[in-house]
Amino acid sequence: MTEKIIQVENLQRTFGANRAVDGMTFQVEPGEVFGLLGPNGAGKTTTVRLLNGILPPSAGTMRVFDLDPAAQGELVRRQTGVLTETPSHYERLSARENLEFFGTLTGIAPADLPRRVDEMLSFFELAHRADDKVETFSKGMKQRLALARALIHQPPLLFLDEPTSGLDPEAAQQVNDLIANLGRRNGQTVILATHNLLDAQRLCDRVAILNKGRILALGSLKELARKLWPVTWVDVTLFNGASAESASASIQALRGVRQVSAEKESLAIQVEAEEIIPQVVSALAANQFPILKVKPRDYTLEDIYFALQAGEA
Ligand SMILES: Nc1ncnc2c1ncn2[C@@H]1O[C@H](COP(=O)(O)OP(=O)(O)OP(=O)(O)O)[C@@H](O)[C@H]1O
Ligand SMILES: [Mg+2]
Repeated sequence: MTEKIIQVENLQRTFGANRAVDGMTFQVEPGEVFGLLGPNGAGKTTTVRLLNGILPPSAGTMRVFDLDPAAQGELVRRQTGVLTETPSHYERLSARENLEFFGTLTGIAPADLPRRVDEMLSFFELAHRADDKVETFSKGMKQRLALARALIHQPPLLFLDEPTSGLDPEAAQQVNDLIANLGRRNGQTVILATHNLLDAQRLCDRVAILNKGRILALGSLKELARKLWPVTWVDVTLFNGASAESASASIQALRGVRQVSAEKESLAIQVEAEEIIPQVVSALAANQFPILKVKPRDYTLEDIYFALQAGEA
């Protein structure tokens, strides 16, 4: 047995001349929330389908739970939950009947089924409409039912393709909280395909940023930022009236300080590493410069995403 839940090497899938997945290599650890980000057509959904054995690859290798999804798709899918991009339900059946049906398909024992169905209905706040036909549901209710369906058999690996699309802000937040808990509390592994960079920043331990079927960058937010912008900047604002120009003289010679620029009461300081920042602050304070604000410049996933995609344009 391998410790990785997913291992993909040089994975490829073409549709005619279109290279939807063009040589991806990555691994996913148990308990991770792993993001697949990228513009429309980048290959996110195709990757999810390949990993679940719904599509065969054109080349490359993949292992999910040490199984080959292309040959052992059914075994893989027994351990995965998939929320597809455009989930469909049996519209003429009720929410409860839909969950009973899918719960049975995933192998939940008949004796446990009613309890699991009730738990899902109440968790996703569908209990009051449990026996109504799905065709009478709003889009958000259908999306919540689709999530319930993906989770009903408590799969150790969950694929969520745009889970908050079509949800109102409150429901979206609820789903995001749920995703955060799946990994951290239940030890479930989550593959999250999304366009929402703020959600991804909050939820994902690592992300793969894709474009045209290729991985442009892979890692945690911190790793990606460090790769793109290897220097650390901190902005210091002095209390109104204090001269940044004279303050800069007191820190320029500090070890680890690379560059200082001063304007009015603001200092922009480039340091070798974050650890230097407290020393800079101490030196300023020791020289009686009144400090109002210290702000290390940090990068968002959005900064990283656009910097990478711009490089591809
Ligand atoms: N069944 C198919 N037949 C032909 N082409 C396909 C098929 N499925 C996907 N493609 C193509 O593969 C490429 C990747 O599509 P995919 O759906 O994986 O992108 P995506 O990253 O999920 O995009 P989106 O953000 O729009 O959901 C696109 O160019 C798409 O047109
Ligand atoms: Mg997609």
